[in-house]
Amino acid sequence: PFSPKCALKEENVAPPTNMLNVHLVPHTHDDVGWLKTVDQYYYGDRNDIQHAGVQYILDSVVDQLLKNPDRRFIYVETAFFYRWWKRQSPSMQQTVRQLVDEGRLEFVNGGWCMSDEATTHYSAVIDQMTMGLRFLNETFGACGRPRVAWHIDPFGHAREHASMFAQMGYDGFFFGRLDYQDRTHRMVQLEQELLWRASDSLPPPTADLFTGILPNGYNPPEGFCWDQSCDDPPIRDDPDLEDYNVNDVVSRFLGIAKAQVRRTNHIIMTMGSDFQYENANLWYKNLDKLILYVNALQANGSKVNVLYSTPSCYLQELHRANLTWALKTDDFFPYADSDHDFWTGYFTSRPALKRYERISNSNLQVTCNQLEVLAGPASRTGPFGEGESQTMKKAMAVAQHHDAVSGTEKQHVANDYARRLANGWQRCQVLVSNSLAALSASSAKRIYCDNLNISVCPLTESSRKFAVTVYNPLARPVSWAVRLPVNGSAYAVSDAKGAAVDCQVSRNRGFAVNELVFQVQAPPLGYSTYSVSLLQNGPPPASMKPRHPAAIQNEYLRVTFDPDTGLLSSLANLETKQSIKLTQNFYWYNASDGNNTESNQPSGAYIFRPNSSTPFIISQTAKTETVQTSVVQEVRQWFSPWVSQVVRLYAGRGVGGGNQSICGICSTCLGKEVITRLDTSIQTAEVFYTDSNGREVLRRKKDFRPTWTLKQSEPIAGNYYPINSRAFIKDDADQLTVVTDRSQGGGSIHNGSLEIMLHRRLLYDDVRGVAEPLNETSHIFPDGLVVRGRLLLSLERPPVAADTHRLIAQEMVLQPLLTFTDGDLNPNTRLEVRGVGVGNVCLLEHQFQSWESKVSSQPVTVSLQKLFSTMEVVGVSEMNLSANQWKDEMRRFAWAPQTDETPVLKTFQDISPWEVTLRPMEIRTFLLRVVLR
Ligand SMILES: *[C@@H]1O[C@H](CO)[C@@H](O)[C@H](O)[C@H]1NC(C)=O
Ligand SMILES: *[C@@H]1O[C@H](CO)[C@@H](O)[C@H](O)[C@H]1NC(C)=O
Ligand SMILES: *[C@@H]1O[C@H](CO)[C@@H](O)[C@H](O)[C@H]1NC(C)=O
Ligand SMILES: *[C@@H]1O[C@H](CO)[C@@H](O)[C@H](O)[C@H]1NC(C)=O
Ligand SMILES: *[C@@H]1O[C@H](CO)[C@@H](O)[C@H](O)[C@H]1NC(C)=O
Ligand SMILES: *[C@@H]1O[C@H](CO)[C@@H](O)[C@H](O)[C@H]1NC(C)=O
Ligand SMILES: [Zn+2]
Repeated sequence: PFSPKCALKEENVAPPTNMLNVHLVPHTHDDVGWLKTVDQYYYGDRNDIQHAGVQYILDSVVDQLLKNPDRRFIYVETAFFYRWWKRQSPSMQQTVRQLVDEGRLEFVNGGWCMSDEATTHYSAVIDQMTMGLRFLNETFGACGRPRVAWHIDPFGHAREHASMFAQMGYDGFFFGRLDYQDRTHRMVQLEQELLWRASDSLPPPTADLFTGILPNGYNPPEGFCWDQSCDDPPIRDDPDLEDYNVNDVVSRFLGIAKAQVRRTNHIIMTMGSDFQYENANLWYKNLDKLILYVNALQANGSKVNVLYSTPSCYLQELHRANLTWALKTDDFFPYADSDHDFWTGYFTSRPALKRYERISNSNLQVTCNQLEVLAGPASRTGPFGEGESQTMKKAMAVAQHHDAVSGTEKQHVANDYARRLANGWQRCQVLVSNSLAALSASSAKRIYCDNLNISVCPLTESSRKFAVTVYNPLARPVSWAVRLPVNGSAYAVSDAKGAAVDCQVSRNRGFAVNELVFQVQAPPLGYSTYSVSLLQNGPPPASMKPRHPAAIQNEYLRVTFDPDTGLLSSLANLETKQSIKLTQNFYWYNASDGNNTESNQPSGAYIFRPNSSTPFIISQTAKTETVQTSVVQEVRQWFSPWVSQVVRLYAGRGVGGGNQSICGICSTCLGKEVITRLDTSIQTAEVFYTDSNGREVLRRKKDFRPTWTLKQSEPIAGNYYPINSRAFIKDDADQLTVVTDRSQGGGSIHNGSLEIMLHRRLLYDDVRGVAEPLNETSHIFPDGLVVRGRLLLSLERPPVAADTHRLIAQEMVLQPLLTFTDGDLNPNTRLEVRGVGVGNVCLLEHQFQSWESKVSSQPVTVSLQKLFSTMEVVGVSEMNLSANQWKDEMRRFAWAPQTDETPVLKTFQDISPWEVTLRPMEIRTFLLRVVLR
């Protein structure tokens, strides 16, 4: 896989085989926002918060690389490199190209950012990687393509990330953080390097990724930090001066190198850390000397060889060793760095930002990736010119960073991420308006209601007549319930053909008096329009019955409530004739304040540490009201002034009890971590299942880790796992799936029980650098940020045949886009258009795991020519997952596992370039050349 031009010079490629080779990797870890915003970090602004300026790092490193051709450097975050590159002169760009061509400056990872692994959705991760990697390819060609994935800082590692990296063509992966018990175990077993088989559906080696755990996080060995931010002694090598210390430095270095036991005679040392190399001279001057003096001892028989290196050069040597490696098939969650320090709080931290990121992803996929292509150039004319989709794409890419959507940044930085997304939305709305105008041949002004999430929309609240356009981003027909705030008490709704649509008005919980509800349908990747008009003499709004309802029911599901407590008490699937006991309620854990005999670790943005394993119940009973009409059946529950919920069943909807909760945590003297818990009659034997980045599902067992014997010291926090889109519990008869609308943390602490953490408000910092308590308020919510969320439930028979939970999970991720126009519809407007497809780069994916479903876990063959109704595909080229390399040029290192019990999976050949077959869980990326029919 190494093209010779990019490789090390021959004399360095094969370091002496009879020596211990120490690969020094000069690097900087540049967070794309954390204590400062991404732009403050770039410029080196607000150095009073943290001294860090990425522009100076790149200036200084390039200058120092030119001074000695042996020196090497790796760069990781393309969000920063891009900012720097576009401000350089052509001659500086030429110089940098040459450094890249010669392998002296090497890109590793190369995505826009180093994404978080616990709280991201795979579609957004692929997008941000694609953006960074395609920029590198366009700018530097093949020599700019990173060979190694590099996630030195994320706080736990997801299997789906490993699978994606394998499919993006990386030869290997390095990271810094793993559970402290796992690290010790692997050191003893010599398993710090392993082969990660990251899919149970894709045939090996498709999702196999060689994985290396760095010896000291991503820091230099102790005593060898020569950055301006460090205090370690420089190498003082003039014997005429005071304090000559070469012998001392060399012998300390040899001690550390020899103590690092690995399977080959190559070891790696990361020489750098957060925002280091701003004055690169300090580092390089001392590293030059270190290499000189350590290697000089070889003349006297020393068997240690030190060299400037990069992760890919180190990886090349491991590959050359031709060994077999321990096989791993689970993941690296949860991460603990000590016995009471589980990094499981950030799975939920900043739930409003997590939701905003997820809904922005949906919006981006819909507008920028679909409508832009659908409508062509017409969509791009507007006040912002060509740049409209780019703003959203960059805002989303930055939001994937491991201190962004993770919720582990300072408050002002969280605000900055949200502001970037809001700018992106604004520009995408111009694009959507242009696209829909072009497609529907209508010039009506499109209005967006960004605050429908809190039931606010000035147009629908005031207009007597308006139209709603629904765009369906999914490749299959879907129907949704639309809820609009209105002030009238009766409305008529009709579809595009003028047929009346059943609708209902009921009392609203928001600012408007009432809420109008009706079902809408839109064709795959297409849209439809509904018109709404106020009726003068309509029936009065549906009345609320303030009593405990016995049950609500549609043709698929029955949800029963306890008449005494008002709580949910059972759930039945009427189609499959199954029924379970199901009690649901809200609780909060009292967060540790750090004053505690076992450890002084408080709960914070990263860490979850309840001070008791028994959560407080918010209320034993719920006050309830119910509405039951032909459109929707709902029970509204009030648990306390700050926790309420609506349980909904829509008519004709095959799946899911809709479930909405509001939860603003009142400021008190206690840190609170609020959960909802479902206690069921399902016999779970301490096992539950969570998804990885929205794709494959992993099995989780209480107080258990598949690859080492766990000593459990935090009975709740140590059993929490990230849930990105769904979790389920099951026994032989029943499977209950909960689909979430954002990433959250959750666990199954008791038999038959599943809990999900919804919101957190904390009084103390958890001493991992952010130096602020997670205490979210806003001017609208001075008493604590209010968060609204939605959970969907489905009850199925395992192994699931109907696949309903997978389908609703997808609907939750890609939500329909609603736009509004005031007044009458123009009768000439073309109202329903079938959509066309997803752009020049087209991702086709199989949604099911191989074992998941009898029906859906079969290979499917797709005809690219029949994919789009309005465009003809005239050329097809397959690419790697991140679209920065042609598939037929993708050659990865082969690595052999120590034991391999994976069943041989059948391989499939495409019938023709136009007819492609997808196996379970496969994602394939194609570059299509299309012409309009
Ligand atoms: C090698 O050994 C000789 C003789 O002991 C000594 O004079 C010389 O300084 C040593 N070289 C180094 C680089 O330590
Ligand atoms: C790698 O090892 C295998 C068996 O252990 C051997 O058959 C093969 O020739 C080796 N390859 C190289 C390049 O040394
Ligand atoms: C509602 O959505 C808007 C963006 O459209 C966002 O700014 C706001 O925070 C959301 N409100 C809640 C309560 O989630
Ligand atoms: C611990 O207790 C002391 C004394 O009651 C108090 O001042 C402090 O804020 C508490 N919390 C922490 C994290 O030290
Ligand atoms: C949390 O925020 C509120 C509102 O800004 C403030 O009054 C309170 O002092 C904060 N609490 C802590 C522990 O920082
Ligand atoms: C990579 O970039 C080069 C130009 O630098 C271009 O010719 C090539 O097509 C690109 N490869 C892919 C897969 O986009
Ligand atoms: Zn970081």
